[in-house]
Amino acid sequence: MKIIVAGTGYVGLVQAAVCSEYGHEVYAYDNNPEKIAAYNSGEAAQIERYVNEPGLSSLIQKTLGKYLFFTSDIKSIIGDADVIFFCLPTPPNQDGSTNLTFYDAAAGEMAQLLAKRRSKKRMVLVNKSTVPIGTARHLEDILRTHNVQNVGVASNPEFLAEGTAIAQARKPDRLVVGCDHPEDFQILRRVYSQFVNHVRIKYIETTPETSEAIKYVANTMLLTYISFWNGVGARLGEKIDNVRIEDLRRGVTADDRISTWGSYVSNGAGGSCFGKDIRSLIYQLRNVDVSTKMLEASYEVNEYQKRYLVDRAINEADFQFSNKTVAVLGLAFKKQTNDMRDASSIKVIETLLGKGVSKIKAYDPLANEEAKETFSSANNILFDKIEYCNSAKEALADSDALFISADWEEFRGLSGTIEQVVKPPYLVIDGRRMIPDYEELVNKGFQYVAVGSMAMSPLVAPEIEPELEAAEA
Ligand code: UGA
Repeated sequence: MKIIVAGTGYVGLVQAAVCSEYGHEVYAYDNNPEKIAAYNSGEAAQIERYVNEPGLSSLIQKTLGKYLFFTSDIKSIIGDADVIFFCLPTPPNQDGSTNLTFYDAAAGEMAQLLAKRRSKKRMVLVNKSTVPIGTARHLEDILRTHNVQNVGVASNPEFLAEGTAIAQARKPDRLVVGCDHPEDFQILRRVYSQFVNHVRIKYIETTPETSEAIKYVANTMLLTYISFWNGVGARLGEKIDNVRIEDLRRGVTADDRISTWGSYVSNGAGGSCFGKDIRSLIYQLRNVDVSTKMLEASYEVNEYQKRYLVDRAINEADFQFSNKTVAVLGLAFKKQTNDMRDASSIKVIETLLGKGVSKIKAYDPLANEEAKETFSSANNILFDKIEYCNSAKEALADSDALFISADWEEFRGLSGTIEQVVKPPYLVIDGRRMIPDYEELVNKGFQYVAVGSMAMSPLVAPEIEPELEAAEA
């Protein structure tokens, strides 16, 4: 198959690379020539400047120039393609609705070119990025306006999660394809031929609208799992003596019907999809007069979760942030990515700066450079108070408190480093429950405030070390 992937962000680049691995002839198109040059260089560092996904750059290196080609010239490749995947940015508008400006511009441009094509073979334009229910139909209207012949439309949403996208793309749990015409289903079956009859992969063929809806229902349900655990499970641990969140999770999720995914309580779910998709679905449902209370609650719990731990530290641990130095560990929206989009760390850092901290010492294993762009002083002059560190140890040095915002594995053994680098009384705020031996820290005089449990302070004043005592005398 000759496949064009239009748009080379996370979704497009992964789709292009994986399709080229299946042996299709793939042209990844982007109107940003710098990106195209970086991908064409084949150098991991260049590729990862734009998309840093485990296994992606090595996959691109394997197929580049053989099955995979990058271009910013759509005209020369569009005429005889079998499929064009639309992987274009669909940012949210202020009111939560989806901004289709980029989408419409690209679709209009392609429709003009397709109206002039010589080849008469059937082609399908496929929406891969998440778009509102009805967008495939809207695309059909654009094609009709330009009098494009023999080109079908389809919805084939992306369900990959960042950090594990390549592995998941090689063995997806399902493929959802929404079309109107048998020929279009047939073309997409050829694209995904190794999955169509797979015993463990669900290959679902349906209407374009159902396919678009599947993506929204899936993502809003996933966010609702997280909000349920954060808004109900975590609260029980935070408010009622002797309710242990880890045991609660294990007890509840022992039921096969209840997912363990989502039960990892956190200072909010971030990323480019959940917040955007739930707001868009709320908007779409309001348009058809459906009550959106449940989705609104799910969204609000998640937003509250991103900032409430700072208030808990003030109210429950009596910590005053004014003029303090706070170490913030984990800036990306989750582990194994450098993606800062909608990361909880943004709300955490804004809240801390609003409380008057004098300095933030920030560290992320992968996202420091991306964080520098997000926290540019052009956006907020207070971001100048952020100093970027090369390790957790460096961030902790000379700080008065620690905030853990993302769940990188390397933070799990942090209690030893904390004891080594800072002395009690010192406040640890754990947004991800990354410190399993927190009770030992508390016994040694540290204060601990975490999502899912009550604030813990040492029962007795910490012992002052003899040298310190002597120095003070
Ligand atoms: C999410 C969905 O999981 C994918 O299925 C979907 O395709 C994708 O959005 C998308 O629409 O493109 P992703 O945003 O990469 O994928 O990240 P997730 O792994 O789902 O995590 C989202 C957030 O929830 C992260 O901040 C994560 O740390 C948090 N989370 C996850 C929790 O707080 N608790 C959990 O138990 C699980």
